Amino acid sequence: MGAATPRKPGFSLYWEKDAVMAVDQRALPHAFELLRLDSVDTLIAAIQNLAVRGAPAIGLAGAFGVALSARAHHAAGAVDDTAVQADAARLAAARPTAVNLAWGVRRALGRLPGGPQAVLDEAMQMVAEDAAVNAAAARRAAELVGSLLPDRPLRLLTHCNTGRLATAAGGTALGAILKLAHHSRVAQVMVDETRPLLQGARLTAWELGEAGVPYRICVDSAAAAAMSQGLVDCVLVGADRIAANGDTANKIGTYGLALAAARHGIPFIVVAPESTWDHDLPDGSGVAIEERDPAEVTTYAGTAVAPAEASVFNPAFDVTPAELITAVVTEDRVVRPRPGHHEKPLRHRIAELVKE
Ligand code: MRU
Repeated sequence: MGAATPRKPGFSLYWEKDAVMAVDQRALPHAFELLRLDSVDTLIAAIQNLAVRGAPAIGLAGAFGVALSARAHHAAGAVDDTAVQADAARLAAARPTAVNLAWGVRRALGRLPGGPQAVLDEAMQMVAEDAAVNAAAARRAAELVGSLLPDRPLRLLTHCNTGRLATAAGGTALGAILKLAHHSRVAQVMVDETRPLLQGARLTAWELGEAGVPYRICVDSAAAAAMSQGLVDCVLVGADRIAANGDTANKIGTYGLALAAARHGIPFIVVAPESTWDHDLPDGSGVAIEERDPAEVTTYAGTAVAPAEASVFNPAFDVTPAELITAVVTEDRVVRPRPGHHEKPLRHRIAELVKE
């Protein structure tokens, strides 16, 4: 894994001369660098250290990983199937929560009988499809938000990074925000900083700045206060895994946002590709939540900020129950787990339940 000549490619990851090229998301916003990932091991490391991150992007990385493996284990016109299957299992397990990773690996593996080039072609096809799928989901979500809130330029709030960096291109929730901005429907975006790794402050702010969309970084713990002060018209987030009933796993802090949005009657919209649904999972209780290194919390920019002996709770994701979600928007459809819930704040619904 090494830094390559910086330039702005059309896709956040792509294939070039025997290797995967990917934007190094750890370096932003200070530097725009490309990584050259030429082995399964370097690719797994890049997924685990979040150089390549975001559910759709790691799904595509997983598919490219299978292509790298198939090329490495190819001799005399035959692929060593067992070796590629073993690499595929390691790739799929690199991070546990986003269903897209195992999905991408499985889909690429399905082309193994056709040989290494067939696997690589499939991975490249998936990159092109992801860009198209995101554009469709973002358009649909922007239309939905526009119809729910037709009157004025909107104050939107988003969490983590769901933009082009987290996908092949275009982005999901951030793609919808950019689409709304394109139609002059955005007054300002509140960007949750997204502790502890600051995907919002570092990456979403960078993408919005590039696009010229006004934004304000919001301390995660101030998001509920922003809603109570009437500074937020709608919340848009992405997803790492959506259970069959609509329960949605996403970056830690999303559940709290959904609770606050329901309390204040604010629409809470999830934007994600169809491939993020895990139809085998009945509800969100079965989602494997990644717990990350305590050092992400006990240090800040390389400096220790907590007692050396402090123990830490550092889940990377949480699960938002479907009943708190106004709509899940994909490239194909708008699913309303709880139609119109946002029109009635949670406390009113609780009062109704108590009366029943
Ligand atoms: O740990 P990360 O940065 O990979 O987490 C990413 C998120 O939670 C995103 O919101 C999600 O993957 C959707 S990206 C379109």
